[in-house]
Amino acid sequence: MRFFSAIAALLSTAGCVSAIGSIGFDLGVQRNSDSGCKETSDYLSDFSTIGDYTNVVRVYAASDCGTLANILPAIEQANFKLFVGVWPNDDAHFDAEKAALSAYLPTIDSSYIMAVTVGSEALYRGDLSASDLSSRIDEVRTLVHGISGYENVPVGTVDSWNVLVDGGNAEVIQTADIVIANAFSYWQGQTMANSSHSFLDDIMQALQVIQTTKGSTDISFWVGETGWPTDGGSFESSVPSVENAAQFWQESICGIRAWGINTLVFEAFDESWKPMTSGIQGVETHWGVWTNDDTAPKYSLNCEFA
Ligand SMILES: *[C@@H]1O[C@H](CO)[C@@H](O)[C@H](O)[C@H]1NC(C)=O
Repeated sequence: MRFFSAIAALLSTAGCVSAIGSIGFDLGVQRNSDSGCKETSDYLSDFSTIGDYTNVVRVYAASDCGTLANILPAIEQANFKLFVGVWPNDDAHFDAEKAALSAYLPTIDSSYIMAVTVGSEALYRGDLSASDLSSRIDEVRTLVHGISGYENVPVGTVDSWNVLVDGGNAEVIQTADIVIANAFSYWQGQTMANSSHSFLDDIMQALQVIQTTKGSTDISFWVGETGWPTDGGSFESSVPSVENAAQFWQESICGIRAWGINTLVFEAFDESWKPMTSGIQGVETHWGVWTNDDTAPKYSLNCEFA
């Protein structure tokens, strides 16, 4: 019931069916070959693989692994667009992230930057309170908007759909220029048969709460992470496989884009550099849509929009 009323509310507030949602990919910053930090040339290879499908990617940090220093020249050269993440959790890390924004954003035109996001599931993990995260979003916005040409770049956050739905985090939603919601049917232990129902319902609940909190339907919203692993261990009723990932793509990712919602998929490439103890039986190494650069996608990424 909740599912269908959420859809009805979205469609009635939108007034009509929106354009197809955009697509992008979350991107790891370590090489599989030696777990070293990706260089500009590594990002260029990534972009050449991804470029058949989109020119939008998201990274999780500004300073870790020299991310901004190394990725921005590739972004410019390949004409990609970037969501820049910032870790706000502890002061030393946050300072390093702000220093990287100050040093490297001025080296590239702001039209290449989709948004700067402060925190990646910081509320979900309980790393920061809503008010601490809000003040860090404000602090980063002041910094970013102080850079020449960056006055209008959105500064917001990424968190799990359920903590956005939780009324206790309204302050963060109010502070953020852009709110990005993650939802993983796999980590909710859903069967394949119910996975798209669950995903679409999660995202619609998050979007409804954001629209209500902001008092507007004219908001910047993306799904920040979703996807399905192709190997590794099962979680409750969720079973990793290429076939299931392909089905999740068609039903959930194509499905939500058909409703006009922009979506970042977790993640572009398998991260086989991660230890095999990551997740359940190494499941964290198998979320890639591609195994690696220079490979075909593991399954069809085409959506057939009516
Ligand atoms: C399917 O997903 C919905 C939405 O998340 C949930 O409420 C429901 O319990 C799920 N159904 C089953 C059979 O797991």
